[in-house]
Amino acid sequence: MTIPIILDCDTGTDDALAILLALASPELDVLAITVAGGNVGLDRTLANTLALTKLARSTVPVYQGADRPLLGSFFNEPRIHGIDGLGGIVLPDGGQPAPEIASDAIRRILRTAPEPVTLVGIAPVTNLALALMTEPALTANIAQIVLMSGAWAEGNATPAAEFNALNDPEALAVLLACGRPVVFATLELTAQALVTPERLGVLRALGTGLCLAAACDIQASVPPSRRLPGAPLHDPCTIAWLTRPELFTSRACSARVDLGPGIGRGRTVIDRWNRTGDALNAVVLETLDADGFFTLLGERVAMLP
Ligand code: BDR
Ligand code: CA
Repeated sequence: MTIPIILDCDTGTDDALAILLALASPELDVLAITVAGGNVGLDRTLANTLALTKLARSTVPVYQGADRPLLGSFFNEPRIHGIDGLGGIVLPDGGQPAPEIASDAIRRILRTAPEPVTLVGIAPVTNLALALMTEPALTANIAQIVLMSGAWAEGNATPAAEFNALNDPEALAVLLACGRPVVFATLELTAQALVTPERLGVLRALGTGLCLAAACDIQASVPPSRRLPGAPLHDPCTIAWLTRPELFTSRACSARVDLGPGIGRGRTVIDRWNRTGDALNAVVLETLDADGFFTLLGERVAMLP
């Protein structure tokens, strides 16, 4: 039994490792990779995704998606991901995307898949929201939505908001209201998945494949965190949750996102103790077995070419 997924990304450094982990995970059937702008512009996130899938010798189709959120424009994060999104690590050219637009491909897959599909979002969730807004009945064929998004306390893009949530809060609100459970790998969770020089050294020693080398080089380019004793490896946590849920603890909760124009815009209000009494529309991942996570990551990525 494999879990069919669509992976929606804005390929910067940690997205790159999530893509490689997903492609190397026999528990998953990656039906499509859809790409939005975010960490850097869409031209670069798309080229990075295509280069990585080619490096992994994957035949999973890659679709071009949104170059802007539902409102306004994306802001980028070149300080973390470099101006090219991969920290200056140059990969062989990956060619062209599949011809469909991402939100069209998501709708087609949901409409025709023989079993419910899991949507994994590690970017601003514009592509996923566009698909559901234009054909809401398709939510019936979503198993769950797993996001790297949000925080229950402070943000990383603003004091209030996490980067993906802030980059398209209206799109996140669409997912939260769609009626399917939304699993949050928040900043509090990903702060437990810290890359340190020691962990990077262990990863590198696991093999000689091009993908493992690229993963380590890309991750080594990430500047040190100002507040944590390592660099949080955000996006692969979603894939690890799907493949090894026993590494996590979680809690059912309700969640909303602040759509106001002020300093709180993009803040996720994650009600872990059901103070609002709202319906439980979300699951928040709370703790991670970090050693188990890095063992999984290394074993899997070392299996790739
Ligand atoms: C999220 O923002 C992006 O910069 C990362 O790729 C991750 O998806 C972390 O806040
Ligand atoms: Ca991302």
